[in-house]
Amino acid sequence: MRGSSETFPPGFGPQTYGESFADVYDRWYHDVTDAAGTARFLAERCVSPSVLELGVGTGRLVAELVGAGLDVVGVDSSLAMMRGPGAGPLRAVADISALPFRVGRRFGGAICAFNTLFNLPTAELQQLVLAETAAVTTGPIVVEALTGAALADADVQSLGISRLTSDSLVLAATVVDHDAQTVTGQHVDITPAGITLRPWHLRWTTPPQLDRMAAEVGLELAERYSDWNGSLYDQFSETHVSVYRH
Ligand SMILES: C[S@@+](CC[C@H](N)C(=O)[O-])C[C@H]1O[C@@H](n2cnc3c(N)ncnc32)[C@H](O)[C@@H]1O
Repeated sequence: MRGSSETFPPGFGPQTYGESFADVYDRWYHDVTDAAGTARFLAERCVSPSVLELGVGTGRLVAELVGAGLDVVGVDSSLAMMRGPGAGPLRAVADISALPFRVGRRFGGAICAFNTLFNLPTAELQQLVLAETAAVTTGPIVVEALTGAALADADVQSLGISRLTSDSLVLAATVVDHDAQTVTGQHVDITPAGITLRPWHLRWTTPPQLDRMAAEVGLELAERYSDWNGSLYDQFSETHVSVYRH
C-alpha cells in the first residue's frame, strides 16, 4: 500500500487504529456520532449520489448514507475494520493519502468523518488527503473533526476510565505533545480473559489550519457548523463539520 508509515511514532502505522479497534468498534462506537444527521447533511449537498467515504471502517455510517439515497464507495487502510458486510459492497483497502481510483473517476461528494483525517500523522499527509480527494470529486468534501480547543489545554499525561462494566474495565492513557499537536494513546482493555492493548495516535489540526491546507490545494471553506444539525460554530465549539468546495 502506498502511504504514510514512515511518519508515525515507532511501532505505529496506517493500520494501527483498525488493528486496535476492529473487534470492538461497533460495540463501543456504534452511536458515537449522529449517523442519521450525517446522511441527511450529505444527501442535501452531494451533486450526484456517488459518495466517497474516506476511512469507512466497519461501515458505521454506510446504512444511513444508503438509506438517504447515496451510493457509498469506502476506502480504508484496515482490512480488519472492513471485514464485515457493513462497509458495503464497494470498498477498497488503500491509504486515503494515496487514493486508488482511475484517472477521470468523479464522486458527487466525499466525507471524512469522526476525526479520521487526524489518523494521518502529519499536516502534509492530511493535506495530501484533501488534494487526492479534490482530484476525484466534483461536489463537496465534508470533514468532521475535533477543533483541538480542548486538546490545546489538555494535560501532557492523563489516565482515566473509558468504559466500566461488571466484567470489564477500559482505561485510557494519553500523552499529548502540544507543539506537534499529537495525542498518543492506549486503551487498556481489561477482562477476565486478560489484557488487550489498543494503541492509537492522532495529529490534530485546528479549523484555521485546515482551511489554509485546503486553500493551498484549491478548496474553499463553504460552510462550517459545530454538528451535523447545522448548530452554530464558534470559538467554544469542540467539534466542527466543515464543507469544502472546489
Ligand atoms: C475513527 S474510524 C472512523 C470509521 C468510520 N468512518 C466511522 O465514522 O465510524 C477511522 C478509520 O480510518 C481508518 N484509517 C486510519 N488511517 C487511515 C489511512 N491512512 N488510510 C485509510 N484509512 C485509514 C481506520 O482504519 C478506521 O477504520
